[in-house]
Amino acid sequence: MDTVTINNDKQSLQNVRLGKDVKIYNFVNAYGCSIGDGTKVGTFVEIQKGATIGKNCKISSHTFICEGVHIADDVFIGHNVTFINDKYPQATNDDGSLQTEDDWHCIETNVEEGASIGSSVTILCGVRIGKKAIVGAGSIVTRDVPNNAVVAGNPARLMKYANQILV
Ligand SMILES: CC(C)(COP(=O)(O)OP(=O)(O)OC[C@H]1O[C@@H](n2cnc3c(N)ncnc32)[C@H](O)[C@@H]1OP(=O)(O)O)[C@@H](O)C(=O)NCCC(=O)NCCS
Repeated sequence: MDTVTINNDKQSLQNVRLGKDVKIYNFVNAYGCSIGDGTKVGTFVEIQKGATIGKNCKISSHTFICEGVHIADDVFIGHNVTFINDKYPQATNDDGSLQTEDDWHCIETNVEEGASIGSSVTILCGVRIGKKAIVGAGSIVTRDVPNNAVVAGNPARLMKYANQILV
């Protein structure tokens, strides 16, 4: 992987580790993260430091991937998906000073191989989205999602398994 820094009027990539044949569309803001071979990143996506994205993923426009998020290979992330890494966020400390990185604890989230996250999904921190799981559009994910599960709603509930044979 090469580490890339590009700053122009269409993109800001700071110390981003890029695999081969990565396609990054305009107006992406990414820093201190890594993006694997063949992955596509749509417009207006932000990817924070320490986030990792595997190979051959599709990250659709307007999505926010924060520190602590680890996305495996072959994952589809829809438009406007929001990840979370702080369950009880605060702007300031009790003494009124602005919080810094030392004042909060990043909670990690994992999206495993081949999972698909629908548009406008919000994923609370500390969850694992299992292999080939599907999260329905607009869902709020608050708990782990098993491999192959199809979940939807607020909070996201199990609808069925993707490999289930319905008769
Ligand atoms: C979750 C999903 C995979 C389910 O698809 P499905 O198995 O074909 O489900 P159906 O359309 O048969 O719907 C089954 C039930 O679930 C409900 N449902 C479907 N998707 C839902 C969602 N995202 N949130 C809440 N309920 C949902 C339907 O209203 C229906 O309810 P009913 O039985 O009370 O009428 C699909 O609806 C979805 O959200 N896919 C994500 C699409 C997306 O975001 N793509 C991004 C790129 S464009």
